[in-house]
Amino acid sequence: MTYQAHFKVWRGDKDGGRLVDYEVEVNEGEVVLDIIHRLQATAAPDLAVRWNCKAGKCGSCSAEVNGRPRLMCMTRMSVFDQAEIVTVTPMRAFPVVRDLVTDVSYNYATARAIPAFVPPPGLKPSEYRMRQEDVDRVQEFRKCIECFLCQNTCHVVRDHEENKAVFAGPRFLMRVAELDMHPLDAAAEAGIDRKRAAQEQHGLGYCNITKCCTEVCPEHIKITDNALIPLKERVVDRSYDPLVWLGDKIRRR
Ligand code: SF4
Ligand code: F3S
Ligand code: FES
Repeated sequence: MTYQAHFKVWRGDKDGGRLVDYEVEVNEGEVVLDIIHRLQATAAPDLAVRWNCKAGKCGSCSAEVNGRPRLMCMTRMSVFDQAEIVTVTPMRAFPVVRDLVTDVSYNYATARAIPAFVPPPGLKPSEYRMRQEDVDRVQEFRKCIECFLCQNTCHVVRDHEENKAVFAGPRFLMRVAELDMHPLDAAAEAGIDRKRAAQEQHGLGYCNITKCCTEVCPEHIKITDNALIPLKERVVDRSYDPLVWLGDKIRRR
């Protein structure tokens, strides 16, 4: 079944822009990205959009559809009423490059600030057998496609640009949690204190567990329950550990 939909698409660049109205054909089974591609092929050949896989796996086509952060390639047109105006805008938390394309370099810079996994020195292959729960945790976090929808949604940066300097955001706090909970990570032996960094460098304390990040994750990763809350608990446990407290006191003298 084919019908004409009314789209409003944000057009502009870093200096400003506006919503532009389009009447566009929709066919059965199509997703929002199909409609954006149809616009490129017809009324708006210069419309800028970032995409790659059209299968929900590359994380490129993130945008806001009727105000909700979503992957355009995974948003079926059938979720909207045929008479409904469908509004597509770029992710709000990142600077616009052009039209629906945003500059997500904040995320790459944040990723680079997290020290990589440190393999335990001297451990030979097959000398350690990981417990299934450790495997499951890593596999869940590794489903992340880096769409940055969670980063875009978290109010800590969405409404406060200035917080980007002190807050890594849910995706990267999840990365810190993944590494800190990894049974083989030898960061501490290498002088890297992931818990202290989570609190003092990556702004874990700014997260007040609103869970908006978890709600928008297209991979259904339980970011808050499985990464952020356990990381907070580990940081708190550490601060109340009398031996750690004493060690910190002595080091600071
Ligand atoms: Fe996207 Fe989920 Fe990864 Fe966040 S955690 S970047 S929402 S896939
Ligand atoms: Fe932000 Fe998610 Fe925490 S939305 S406040 S990082 S639970
Ligand atoms: Fe790859 Fe949408 S185009 S996730």
